[in-house]
Amino acid sequence: MGIYQRSRGLASWRRRAVARLMILASLLLSGFLGVARAQVPYVPTPMDVVEHMLSMAKVGPTDFLIDLGSGDGRLVREAALRFGARGMGIERDPELIERSTELARRQGVTDKVAFVKQDLFEADIGDATVLTMYLLPAVNMKLRPRLLATLKPGTRIVSHDFDLGDWQADETAEFYSKLKYGESGGNSKVFLWIVPADVSGRWSWRLEVGGQSIDYELRVAQRFQKLDVVVRVAGQDRKVEHVELRGDALSFTVLADIKGSPVRQQFKGRIGGDAIEGTVASKGPRMQGAAEWSAVRTERGFRSAVDAHPRGAAPTDPSMNHAAVAAASTR
Ligand SMILES: C[S@@+](CC[C@H](N)C(=O)[O-])C[C@H]1O[C@@H](n2cnc3c(N)ncnc32)[C@H](O)[C@@H]1O
Repeated sequence: MGIYQRSRGLASWRRRAVARLMILASLLLSGFLGVARAQVPYVPTPMDVVEHMLSMAKVGPTDFLIDLGSGDGRLVREAALRFGARGMGIERDPELIERSTELARRQGVTDKVAFVKQDLFEADIGDATVLTMYLLPAVNMKLRPRLLATLKPGTRIVSHDFDLGDWQADETAEFYSKLKYGESGGNSKVFLWIVPADVSGRWSWRLEVGGQSIDYELRVAQRFQKLDVVVRVAGQDRKVEHVELRGDALSFTVLADIKGSPVRQQFKGRIGGDAIEGTVASKGPRMQGAAEWSAVRTERGFRSAVDAHPRGAAPTDPSMNHAAVAAASTR
């Protein structure tokens, strides 16, 4: 190996070591000093991880992707180039904004993307259908209440390497990337969350089942996408299974007993404000069938998803206690 090659090898080793040290120092700073003084350095997401992030979010031509702290704009540009999505990068470093804009021009995607020099905490993110980030744990946690309060239900959030504390991801994956840390290689984690609708509180509806008019009540305590529910059918507590909330799509199965005969009722609906519209499929030895279903919220609940505990300590939320939900539902 010649002197030139060796010194180049040494230089790239030094670059990688500096990148790693910067990340480590930032992590320590964010931990010890709090987010106010933590600085997120520019460390680009390797291109193979960018591909994983975009395909995990199932980015398509109808999407509007916002990357918070967009670096050289690779997530936004790639989403436009590969999937025809529109996008916006928010970045505080003017040189990176300039580089992103120039690269977008060279790639012919300037009609789809924009790069804005702005603090990511001040960015208007409400129109995003996909939000990406490669920040730091403390910054993610500071952002979390805003993400939950501002993003529409169903918006996909994808984060490289860092999670959102006790808001469990809907999907997690880990990849080895040989391009990581300036090509020294390393593992990358990718997290995906679907922003949940607010379904907390008390809901009621009436159904005609087997020629009988029956009142239903659903009481929901919610923490992020996790629900704790109690269902009453004609004033009686009934078992509920397969409860799932994904964005604004809610589904659950009630094991009812109608005229002394067991019936499994599978409810599926979309939440829009204080209403749910959907269908119910009933199945039992004496009855079968499908019908339209709509419910209204009669009482708003405490949705601890938008909590005042951004550092991850779950508040003691009595509404998450099943017994408390059940007791409240008899009020
Ligand atoms: C780790 S890099 C990620 C870059 C890009 N998102 C990617 O994945 O390749 C984080 C970026 O966030 C930017 N950044 C950090 N804090 C910011 C803030 N408060 N407002 C806007 N940008 C910020 C940094 O300048 C840096 O470019």
